[in-house]
Amino acid sequence: MEPQSMLQPAGVQAQAIRALWDLMLAVTGSVWFLVAGAICIALWRATRRTAPQPVATRRMHAMIAWSTAVTIGVLFGLLGAAVWTGQRIQALDASNALHITIVGHQWWWDIEYADPIASRRVRLANELRLPLDRPVVLRMTSNDVIHSFWVPNLHGKLDLVPGRVTMLRLRADRPGRFRGQCAEFCGMQHAHMALPVIVEPRGQFDAWLDGQRQPAHLPHTAQQQRGRALFETGSCASCHAALGTRAGARTAPDLTHMASRLTLAGGLLPNDPASLEAWLRDPQAIKPGNRMPVPGLSERDRQDLVAYLGGLQ
Ligand code: CUA
Repeated sequence: MEPQSMLQPAGVQAQAIRALWDLMLAVTGSVWFLVAGAICIALWRATRRTAPQPVATRRMHAMIAWSTAVTIGVLFGLLGAAVWTGQRIQALDASNALHITIVGHQWWWDIEYADPIASRRVRLANELRLPLDRPVVLRMTSNDVIHSFWVPNLHGKLDLVPGRVTMLRLRADRPGRFRGQCAEFCGMQHAHMALPVIVEPRGQFDAWLDGQRQPAHLPHTAQQQRGRALFETGSCASCHAALGTRAGARTAPDLTHMASRLTLAGGLLPNDPASLEAWLRDPQAIKPGNRMPVPGLSERDRQDLVAYLGGLQ
């Protein structure tokens, strides 16, 4: 995963923000050196004087007027650059865009890829895949409190507000894996509300999206079969969904292809059997306050569930 940084842009919008940052750094850095230099010269002159000199008032007034004018000019210049950057960011042509809905929850991201045909929509959680060089429109809202979508390598921040839809347009122009993070304090586990973002070439992305449309894999082994029965009839199905099974609840992350994701628990754990096992043993010990109750499974049931869920590629 690349460093979570706006200094390493991977998209058109982030590039524009980086250019504005460079300009502001150059201008304010130059001003700092000019002022520091002027102070040094004044101090150096003062040490060489023996008697205090009368101040030439007219010259001083002219200097103050000039400095004020230059300061105002610089500030308006930077304001103009900021407005222009804002317009450049908004100007993305979204006629051929991919539309994705993102709903913030305490403390996970619910993601749905739109499609006019309902059966072709793809729902997943806590991971965002984007096609390279194609405009994307993110329609965002929140289910509970205010969250904020922030993937600095791709764009600036935008809040997810309950009862309102906010829109972010972006286009990634470099493949890679980036880290997104909720950027608005949203409760106890705010820091553990990460969002890995994978940008990949169109062909690869389309193949992935097609794969995500498929129903959950059928169990292969007897252990996986027991795991699936447990998943469908136990408490999992009252919150989670997996396409092609009897579990269809939407209050918790969709698990249809959960084994294909990079992380578990909102970016907190790597997605491997040991972490999944630990999570199912006691999710409250790992991420205190999250909405998943302790399942209270027997050792065997837990192993069966890990075998089944771990096979949902
Ligand atoms: Cu969600 Cu902070």
